[in-house]
Amino acid sequence: MSESPAARVRELRAQVERANVRYYQEDSPEISDAEYDALVRELRELEAQHPELAKPDSPTRKVGGKRAEKFQPFKHPSPMRSLANAFAESDARRFFVRMRELAQTRSVQFSAEPKLDGVALNLLYVNGILQAAATRGDGETGEDVSNNAAVIPAIPQKLKPDSHSHPPPAKLEVRGEVVIATAHFAELNRKQAEIGAKIFANPRNAAAGALRQLDSQITASRPLSFFAYGIGVVEMPPGATFPRSHSAVCEWLQERGFALPEPRTVSVNEDDMLAYFENVRNNRADMPYELDGVVYKVDDFSLQEKIGYVSREPRFAVAHKFPSETAVTRIEGIDIQVGRTGAMTPVARLAPVGVGGVIVSNATLHNRGYIAEKDIRVGDYVVVRRAGDVIPRVESADFSRRPENARPYAFPPNCPFCGTKSEDDGELIRCPNAECPARLRARLRHFVSRPAMDLEGFGAVLVERLADSGKARRPADLFRLTRDDLLDMEKIADLSADNLLRALEAGRRTELARVIFGLGIRDVGESTARDLANFFGSHQRMRDAPLESFAFIRDIGRETAASVRHFFHAENGDADFAALRDAGVVWEERTFARGSRTRGLAEFLLTMANLKTTFPESEIRMIGGETPLRGVGKIAAQKLERCFGNLNALRSASAEEISAALGGGQGGVEVANRVRGFLADSHYAGVADFLADLGFAWTKEKAREDAGGLSGKVFVLTGTLSAMPRAEAKKKIEALGGKVTGSVSARTNYVVAGENPGSKLDAAKLHGARILDESAFAELLAQK
Ligand code: IVH
Repeated sequence: MSESPAARVRELRAQVERANVRYYQEDSPEISDAEYDALVRELRELEAQHPELAKPDSPTRKVGGKRAEKFQPFKHPSPMRSLANAFAESDARRFFVRMRELAQTRSVQFSAEPKLDGVALNLLYVNGILQAAATRGDGETGEDVSNNAAVIPAIPQKLKPDSHSHPPPAKLEVRGEVVIATAHFAELNRKQAEIGAKIFANPRNAAAGALRQLDSQITASRPLSFFAYGIGVVEMPPGATFPRSHSAVCEWLQERGFALPEPRTVSVNEDDMLAYFENVRNNRADMPYELDGVVYKVDDFSLQEKIGYVSREPRFAVAHKFPSETAVTRIEGIDIQVGRTGAMTPVARLAPVGVGGVIVSNATLHNRGYIAEKDIRVGDYVVVRRAGDVIPRVESADFSRRPENARPYAFPPNCPFCGTKSEDDGELIRCPNAECPARLRARLRHFVSRPAMDLEGFGAVLVERLADSGKARRPADLFRLTRDDLLDMEKIADLSADNLLRALEAGRRTELARVIFGLGIRDVGESTARDLANFFGSHQRMRDAPLESFAFIRDIGRETAASVRHFFHAENGDADFAALRDAGVVWEERTFARGSRTRGLAEFLLTMANLKTTFPESEIRMIGGETPLRGVGKIAAQKLERCFGNLNALRSASAEEISAALGGGQGGVEVANRVRGFLADSHYAGVADFLADLGFAWTKEKAREDAGGLSGKVFVLTGTLSAMPRAEAKKKIEALGGKVTGSVSARTNYVVAGENPGSKLDAAKLHGARILDESAFAELLAQK
């Protein structure tokens, strides 16, 4: 049944008005920005198609805000306008074309900058002193929040003088956005929850709420920032000049003490603008603030004037919005997926919906606890989020639209693929059956994947068919496949069978790290697999490793150690390695000459003394009812290292000598006895021998050879690397003991910047990471 246009227009107006009230007056929106934009867009289109329905007071004709009663009205010296939106690339392109037409020139310079998702604020400076601050309100008149602006550190109370001490403008309006950094927002909500106060839906609402406090002490306690993006009225003292373009004004504002949205760019080329858009969009998650798009502006002020305004919007600027990351759709069912480690993941089957530019029909529900906590049911309308490349997830259910017959979801007690009763390990529900067909399929898919064995041509469908047909019951079976086996599979022609055999042949020569990763040990990702391979050198040593040895591998915790041991002892992992060997798969195993890996004696003692913080006490061998080396802390360990030099010397020392090294006294004697007890214990002597077989010697000299030239260093790669592909750069870094992560944080040591590096470079500067261009990076590798 289709409504009449008049009825639809009425309905849309009511919805938009209601959304405006919730957003602008109550700081508590009910619908997403994308939904709001969609409503306004539909209303505009209908009004354009049916001019008879247009009305002067339609919400399409005014800015949404209305003044709340508690603040004094403030009439803006010049109106605060809004921006037209572009959603598709074609909308953006049309804008650039139109600007050149209206400017009547082929070369129009455009500026581009992020569109910050916060609250607009107008600042009025008189003779360089902040006189008043006001929210946008209806664009003509806003709320006077001067008292609150006075407590926001990012808002200059006084304009910084320029280097020639020119007098400041007699009058100047600075426009910008009040925002809360994403990180501060999480922190704020945590504090709010602690004191039982209101939880904010997003940083923008939190910023709006903070700005409209009657008590500016509260405003002062909130982590507000301010970024300037433009100006209103400017009155210069006689004879003084003012910049004549947006980009020049931005610089001017920066020199006067304002922060501006970063990164910014200018170009006459619209492809540059669109590349900028993509770049910002791809780096959106790494930005310290929430953005909802970028803003393109005609840069030159005289052209801006020429192009002019339409009702409430400048015609010379447009907001190019990022595609919404959320959408609303209905859950048609919930399926259980079983992964290679048996984890049972609930996945919502959805009525297909477009999110962020792709059609989504499945979204993860994470685990049983998540469904229960959010009370998500089959039949519900739900918000689905898809951010960047991450797997779409169901975020929340709309209880107001819940069908009457919707029942709470009952997680199946048995694995839907093999019927085995599932187990709850406190975190996840798992199918414990190592032979489960779903687990086998997932294992094989993982095994053939690029970071694992990288078997080209073995896609998910083929591998699953091989699993289901019984031709591959474990990873090694793939290497035993014959041409006939492959031809038996549906839709495989001679040619592709030959290609597959070639891929297997090529895959036979591999590396231990790939095998470890490929066999799919729980908690063992790509870089952990590499750490394990480097540390143990062979799978047998990894299998025979005493628990304590894992404590010596950096970044490996008790879960990983437990998972590796579980893999060998409960899941017959050894047989997987052996079967691969039998099937002709070869990889290099390393042996370590004794003493080839030197580490500090203090490190050895401390790691042993700290076993109780690494592993559950029940798994640690006690000595005389105590955990080993109780009472040995960093200082004591260093004293022993300094005094005895190496482990053998410490072994031959008497209790008196050890006690004296520790500074004597009753405490010294006790600790000395524990040290002697530890060294005499046969179990721990066995651990030390095992480590010695791995080449470790514990001496006064610090780590040398095995540490690798980049050991412990964290890298981020950004931009286009032309000298070597990213995957190769990553490999090289890892081979030298370094790590590559996706985003810049305080832990990042180096950022390798190729061409068009984007915002990660800004983040690198922020966190003080070293920035290397490609040649500096090559040099660093060569040195190590
Ligand atoms: S220029 C004359 N630039 O978006 C047009 N606005 O929908 C003035 N915003 O009210 C806007 N970042 O609150 C501009 N870099 C930016 C912006 C920005 C965020 C907000 C601003 C404005 C709204 C328009």
